[in-house]
Amino acid sequence: MTQPEEHCLWWQKGIIYQIYPRSFQDSNGDGVGDIPGILKRLDYLKWLGVTAIWISPLYPSPMADFGYDISDYCNIHPLFGNLADFDKLVQEVHAAGMKLILDLVPNHTSDEHPWFVESRSSRDNAKRDWYIWKDARPDGLPPNNWLSMFGGGAWEWDETTQQYYYHAFLVKQPDLNWRNPQVQEAMLQVMRFWLDKGVDGFRVDVMWHMIKDEQLRDNPPNPAYQQHMATYEQLLPVYSTDQPEVHDIVSKMRQVLDGYDDRMMIGEIYLPISKLVTYYGVDNKGAHLPFNFMLLNMPWNAAEIAAAIDLYEGALPQNAWPNWVLGNHDQPRISSRVGQQQARVAALLLLTLRGTPTIYYGEEIGMRDVPIPFNEVKDPQGLNMPDKNLSRDPARTPMQWSNSEYAGFSDAAPWLRLDSGFNRTNVQHQKEEPLSVLLLYKRLIALRQAQPALYRGRYQRVYSDTQMLAYLREEEGAQSYLVVLNLSHRPCYFTPASVVIKGKVILATSPELEGQVISNTINLAGDEGVIIELDTL
Ligand code: NOJ
Repeated sequence: MTQPEEHCLWWQKGIIYQIYPRSFQDSNGDGVGDIPGILKRLDYLKWLGVTAIWISPLYPSPMADFGYDISDYCNIHPLFGNLADFDKLVQEVHAAGMKLILDLVPNHTSDEHPWFVESRSSRDNAKRDWYIWKDARPDGLPPNNWLSMFGGGAWEWDETTQQYYYHAFLVKQPDLNWRNPQVQEAMLQVMRFWLDKGVDGFRVDVMWHMIKDEQLRDNPPNPAYQQHMATYEQLLPVYSTDQPEVHDIVSKMRQVLDGYDDRMMIGEIYLPISKLVTYYGVDNKGAHLPFNFMLLNMPWNAAEIAAAIDLYEGALPQNAWPNWVLGNHDQPRISSRVGQQQARVAALLLLTLRGTPTIYYGEEIGMRDVPIPFNEVKDPQGLNMPDKNLSRDPARTPMQWSNSEYAGFSDAAPWLRLDSGFNRTNVQHQKEEPLSVLLLYKRLIALRQAQPALYRGRYQRVYSDTQMLAYLREEEGAQSYLVVLNLSHRPCYFTPASVVIKGKVILATSPELEGQVISNTINLAGDEGVIIELDTL
């Protein structure tokens, strides 16, 4: 549903850019990116035209899961800088007219967080109930069959206090007990700490994990499990995730945000659409944007994608705002999934769909997954399930800024190796190259930001088959657009059956197509896509 202009909020009209801070820009020659590095690149982000930045965790952490294992929620890891650097970041992001979104990881802490250190110290410690502690079964086995997302069981035996604790991720990431009101209050206080500093919102890590079944019932087996899948997928997580009470927690978080002006919350949620949309909450008082990950793992097939868009559009509650994602730090990069040429078509899709797009750093220059030799793998998910090719390192390699040593990312060898092709694929080169994917992104971003039909207009599917996807974006009183995308590598031909299409190609994957006048028939070569400015009738 379209909203009137005055109600188009920054996170609705905006374009979010995800920074994985270890890999964006190093400023002090330790091979790891940092806040002063991000500051140095704000001009680039402004030039690109994105309007909000989400930064993966910057907090103190033993780095067992590269920052998603937090040992202090109200500070900055010295690797990344300090609180003064952070304050400067808030100030400069705002001065550049952009917004800043922090990653919040409320489901679990590091086992080195003082809360857990206390909690594990004795059974009668005041913080014992802040985590999920349970006795062994009479046979000594863990309380239930739940599995860790990172391989193996999800319960760890504690010798000192003779109980198990639950960890949905690593042994070093114990889950907090969100049924405990003190835990709730402590985390809401963390939110206030950063909101008071001026952050504009949070991306909430694994939102659907936050509450588990009170009776801790066994998860049922997954009949669709196959050997190549992560071991976690052997079971269906019906009791360990997505429990009804999670919505009370989300709504409490939302109330905190609503106590401030114009803040927002994204939820990281991997669930089928019918369940995902419940995270908007009753009357949209839950997450502003439950991340829509549909495009991350579905077959790259026009008919299936068109059906998925319709499914999503149809499932959205009234006035709920959509969003789209092509990649993130946990998933293979779009270029490696669909190919370099098709990634340009994907860019057109991402930036012309209805709803807030999130761009993963490097997507805009067509960065691909980098093969990381086994002895260099850093990601625990890769290390724990070595035979399954599940390491996330390939999608986390350093940003490729230039063809100088270490790609302009650092003066020293980076923490994760660079793509061997960085000499050719880098920002500096692509800025000068009219056909680059970077300039395609920049132009798409500018067009989307300028055109009400694209940033808030209606979406209407016109046509789809196995090769091609075509849709209209329209808004009363504004220029309308027809987007036609060839999602295959072979030519395809489009003559709409019921409507007469007249207009001009104003942006395309291949510049030769731009300026072309369209009168009903559109022929596209493989991997081509066009945005047509429609004549007003
Ligand atoms: C989701 C994050 O995106 C991922 O990187 C992390 O490993 C897990 N949550 C655990 O925090």
